[in-house]
Amino acid sequence: MRYDLIVIGGGPAGYLASERAAHAKLNVLCIEKNNVGGVCLNEGCVPTKTLLYSAKLYDGAKHGAKYGIMAQDICFDHKTVVARKNKVIKLLTGGIKSTLKLNGATLISGEATIVGKTDDDCAFKVQCAEEIYEGERLLIATGSSPAIPPITGLKDGLESGFVVTNREILALTEVPEKLVVIGGGVIGLEMASYFNSVGSNVTVIEMLDHIAGENDKKLTAVLQKNYEKKGVIFKLGAKVTAVKEAGVEYELGGETATIPADKVLLSIGRRANTTGIGFETIGVATERGAVVTDAHMRTNVKNVYAAGDVNGKSMLAHTAYREAEVAVNDMLGIDDEMNYGSVPSVIYTNPELASVGLTQDGATAKGIDFKTVELPMRYSGRYLAENEGGDGICRLIVGSDGRILGVQALCNYASEFIIAAGIMVETGMTVEQAKKLIFPHPTVGEIIREAIFQCD
Ligand code: NAI
Repeated sequence: MRYDLIVIGGGPAGYLASERAAHAKLNVLCIEKNNVGGVCLNEGCVPTKTLLYSAKLYDGAKHGAKYGIMAQDICFDHKTVVARKNKVIKLLTGGIKSTLKLNGATLISGEATIVGKTDDDCAFKVQCAEEIYEGERLLIATGSSPAIPPITGLKDGLESGFVVTNREILALTEVPEKLVVIGGGVIGLEMASYFNSVGSNVTVIEMLDHIAGENDKKLTAVLQKNYEKKGVIFKLGAKVTAVKEAGVEYELGGETATIPADKVLLSIGRRANTTGIGFETIGVATERGAVVTDAHMRTNVKNVYAAGDVNGKSMLAHTAYREAEVAVNDMLGIDDEMNYGSVPSVIYTNPELASVGLTQDGATAKGIDFKTVELPMRYSGRYLAENEGGDGICRLIVGSDGRILGVQALCNYASEFIIAAGIMVETGMTVEQAKKLIFPHPTVGEIIREAIFQCD
């Protein structure tokens, strides 16, 4: 059977593209080898948030005295938390399946491989099990997998289950007494936060001299201090040299030491899934391990698109959604293109760290003339009401022409209000224009309004 579009991969990029294209009356086939929903729904964004929500409730109950909440004999049942997480995943993946069906897209289960072009040269042939399907267009949305560096003992550790990735850690039924996290990025910090809350002794080993990657360094330093107070140990600027039965060996300042571990989480980044898909049969170009795409998500091969982690541009589910829409719009002849300059990012620690647009370091690296307006979150009444002794910060990066170039915030609800900042950055809004916006009161997001009025 010949389809207008074959989508390889049913994660955020793949399922959304299938849904949108089918809604626009294209005849769509989506092929997924695991569970529809991809890493995001099954072993990433959503499951971690269910765990972190339980941890937040537990923290609130344990440390509620200053808010007038005194509770005794509070306990945490990790098994129930994991069971609830599985229920949420089932609900959401079920929802995706019915939305695809409702829009008229066909979803099949199996591993897809591109095997060449049809004899008339008008379509691509994709094999799944024994069947060959033909698609006039292809969307590659095969996602990414955890990066596995060549560290002594790591492979064996992964095989034995002593070392886990984001997938397996979410399925643990017991809380490890000693957890060592390799990589202090998004996954490492979110999981360190959860296991710290529920009683593990957590150590994070990070090779850089700061946690949380490209985020604003002042905010990440405050976040680190928050977690140190809660008992998380950070080894920064450290090089992991081996994973042994006794734990994780690392080098720091010329010294070698070993941190004992019951479990080790490997979270040092992800790599695009580009092998075994048959790119060579039609000549899809890759660069540094990812599919090369333009602003319309087109690859170098006409009518072949790539969206989501596989193009390695911004490995975030919300980027994948937008890339999928851009790709489908291009297929439909609708003028659209991808802009990566205002993609928000959030680390769901407690407090959350959210950012959009340029940070101070980012603006400096670009040679932009800018100023930073920094406010403690205590300027927000709602923040004060809910955060006894909180040390959150908001930073606004403003260009010399008055445009808002970036916003970073360390506080809860930042994940929710960063979209407002994103709109300002995306539309090139100036401080004078932003002054006319009305924020609901009292909200934590009002901090942006406060910062805007401090710009003069
Ligand atoms: P990451 O890129 O966020 O962080 C990896 C960290 O590991 C970096 O700080 C890096 O310096 C460090 N590192 C690299 N090699 C190391 C080594 N040998 N020893 C010690 N440290 C080392 O990657 P992560 O946390 O694995 O997440 C993967 C992807 O998943 C990211 O692209 C992230 O954006 C996405 N994700 C996003 C979430 C969110 O938006 N909240 C949640 C979970 C994942």
